[in-house]
Amino acid sequence: MTDSPYPDLDWDVTRSRARRTKRWSVYGPDVLDLTVAEMDLPVAEPIMDAVRDAVERQAMGYPVPPARSGLPEVAAKWLTTVHGLATEPDGVGLLPELMRGITNSLRLFTPPGSPVVVPTPTYRSFFGAIELADREAIEAPMATGPDGYRLDLDRIDAALAAGARCVLLCHPANPVGRVFRPDELAALARVVARHGARVISDEIHAPLRYQEEFTPYAALSEETRAHTVTLFSASKAWNIPGLRAGFIALTNPDDRTRWAALPGAATGGISPLGMVGSAAAFEHGGPWLERAMGYLTANRELLARLFTEAGLDEVYRPSEATYLAWLDLRRLGLDDPSRPLLAAGVATTPGPDHGAGGAGFVRLNYATQPEVLTDAAARIARVLSS
Ligand SMILES: Cc1ncc(COP(=O)(O)O)c(C=O)c1O
Repeated sequence: MTDSPYPDLDWDVTRSRARRTKRWSVYGPDVLDLTVAEMDLPVAEPIMDAVRDAVERQAMGYPVPPARSGLPEVAAKWLTTVHGLATEPDGVGLLPELMRGITNSLRLFTPPGSPVVVPTPTYRSFFGAIELADREAIEAPMATGPDGYRLDLDRIDAALAAGARCVLLCHPANPVGRVFRPDELAALARVVARHGARVISDEIHAPLRYQEEFTPYAALSEETRAHTVTLFSASKAWNIPGLRAGFIALTNPDDRTRWAALPGAATGGISPLGMVGSAAAFEHGGPWLERAMGYLTANRELLARLFTEAGLDEVYRPSEATYLAWLDLRRLGLDDPSRPLLAAGVATTPGPDHGAGGAGFVRLNYATQPEVLTDAAARIARVLSS
């Protein structure tokens, strides 16, 4: 696109197809695939340089031991100065991916067999991670009102009273896009503390927000630092999930000791390419991310305009974070509206996959070319008006 203010980021979808990753390789050429959370944007140059260098060095062996890699230092610095959660390098654990952090944390920090409270709609892989830890999920659907979604503290309280020992928070929330305010998080913290429970806060989407303000849950107080583990990664914001790297911030010193004693089979698997790619993102990825957020802001405005122009205002409310649109298609009267959309050539993630409260909705990834979005919105509008 020639009139884009971000010509360097405007990446033709044919180039995304040529990447041969999950995005664009599930459906045929007639389907606009707006499911998996990968972006149709070029990877930031500092990351490309670091990975190219690692490939040239044939860094394809086992990873450097974390304490000798320098990566915990880089990650802790980013977490402290950019993300807003003060952490020392020895409070950062390395992982190949974040779901491993969730299963490990449930096993390690909550009593065997105790259920887990999950505010929903949420990231669908949470349910598999909970199952893998031999735990039961108790869904606590978020309340909705004129201001959008908010945590339903009564439901969370009831689940903890019924024996759950952990809240699995997605903050910012995938798929609804909420960045929970400090007062909301403090109210949650009071409920959690009353029950002596724990919080796992997945904050992977935090860099992808449309507002300055963000408070990591653990950063609220000494009490939340002690009862929380925080998951973070460069994989989502810098579009490098295939490099296999993720991080856990252990802000409770006892948790660090127990985490350090885990077998390598539980925590190992970070890749040497993921290590250098993540370090480059944290150290040098800021300018790229700022421009990417400009690009995504334009896309989100475009999407809102397209639905408004089609007389479908209620379908889309721009969110506070993520590049995921949570589309309200309840007017179709279907639990899973993704099926007629797919028949019309737009692949979206079914709302019910995200837990209670997802019926009638779909999740759409708008980190793609404006032309693709325009086409997709027109196809969706046709389904809604047929
Ligand atoms: C909330 C959330 N957590 C974790 C992940 C997985 O991240 P990774 O593949 O880097 O482990 C995703 C991916 O979309 C996500 O949305």
